[in-house]
Amino acid sequence: MGCHELSWLGRLLLLMQLVDGVFSWGKYGHYAVCKIAEGYVSEDAMGTVRKLLPEWAKGELAAVCSWPDDIKWNYNWHWTSSLHYVDTPNSKCNYNYYRDCYDSSGHRNHCVTAAIFNYTNQLFSAYQGYNPRFNYNLTEALMFLAHYMADVHQPLHVGFIGDLGGTSVKVGWYRRKTNLHHVWDTLIIDTAVKTLYGSDLSAMIQAIQKNITDAWSNDRSSWESCIYNNTVCPNLYASESVRFACKFAYRNATPGTTLQDDYFLSRLPVVEKRLAQGGIRLAAVLNRLMPLQWLDDNQHEVA
Ligand SMILES: *[C@@H]1O[C@H](CO)[C@@H](O)[C@H](O)[C@H]1NC(C)=O
Ligand SMILES: *[C@@H]1O[C@H](CO)[C@@H](O)[C@H](O)[C@H]1NC(C)=O
Ligand SMILES: *[C@@H]1O[C@H](CO)[C@@H](O)[C@H](O)[C@H]1NC(C)=O
Ligand SMILES: *[C@@H]1O[C@H](CO)[C@@H](O)[C@H](O)[C@H]1NC(C)=O
Ligand SMILES: [Zn+2]
Repeated sequence: MGCHELSWLGRLLLLMQLVDGVFSWGKYGHYAVCKIAEGYVSEDAMGTVRKLLPEWAKGELAAVCSWPDDIKWNYNWHWTSSLHYVDTPNSKCNYNYYRDCYDSSGHRNHCVTAAIFNYTNQLFSAYQGYNPRFNYNLTEALMFLAHYMADVHQPLHVGFIGDLGGTSVKVGWYRRKTNLHHVWDTLIIDTAVKTLYGSDLSAMIQAIQKNITDAWSNDRSSWESCIYNNTVCPNLYASESVRFACKFAYRNATPGTTLQDDYFLSRLPVVEKRLAQGGIRLAAVLNRLMPLQWLDDNQHEVA
């Protein structure tokens, strides 16, 4: 009996791994952004982050960063699915909050940049000990913020409305059929990990980290800063993304094209830089939100 069950379980686990690799910026992208962020979150902010993380994260921020993708299919969380992206009018390579931030039913302030403002404000008001009118779940606020900060850096999460950010642009990726959005969420990263980093995601993350300390060291402070010293500036990140979408994602990727080495090798550096920027900026936001370690007493006061 044991034998039978084991092989069944083995097959199930294998299947889950395969599914994991296909679906689910994908799981690798979110993990990478949060791992990069972890390296730049201050001790004090990390102390607060650990207090907010759910038990199952075991103190690791990167463990929760795909959570909003895992739950969005659930009926109770369906309202969050439009918070992962923002669309611009067809062929418009710029972004404007007032023009673009609404969901498919036309509800304003329902898009990724609004969500980033929302969850930053929730954490800010709780941390400052303001008296919030609602009892926000700050664990959720942290998990959403960490996730959406990465999403807004994926160029096609700020793509054209007519093709749903590249989702309806059917293309080939080497030998398989897929869509352009999925290429940018998942396949460029998966292919890089498999072919250039010995199937080791952490090797890719280390290569990006090395660039942050070497090639991009002079850029870091400009990535971190926001106009008027704001805590977070998602409108800037979204504006960059749609420019990259036009310049790199949509270019030479019309429907029916098969994308191969030329596209992969020229776009990978863009993806790697966006993962770096997402991570650095997530850390910067958390450091600004949580400059001092949050005492439990304090937490009781605001809860
Ligand atoms: C802001 O967060 C609250 C609590 O999670 C939620 O009810 C509301 O819909 C959110 N709005 C946006 C735009 O994210
Ligand atoms: C906060 O949200 C998390 C994730 O949804 C949930 O597990 C937890 O029970 C919530 N906490 C409270 C106090 O509702
Ligand atoms: C590191 O930076 C160089 C120069 O900008 C770039 O060509 C290379 O693709 C980057 N590598 C990674 C892993 O980010
Ligand atoms: C931003 O903060 C820095 C350092 O605290 C300060 O010198 C600068 O004047 C501020 N800029 C604005 C526009 O508030
Ligand atoms: Zn997402």
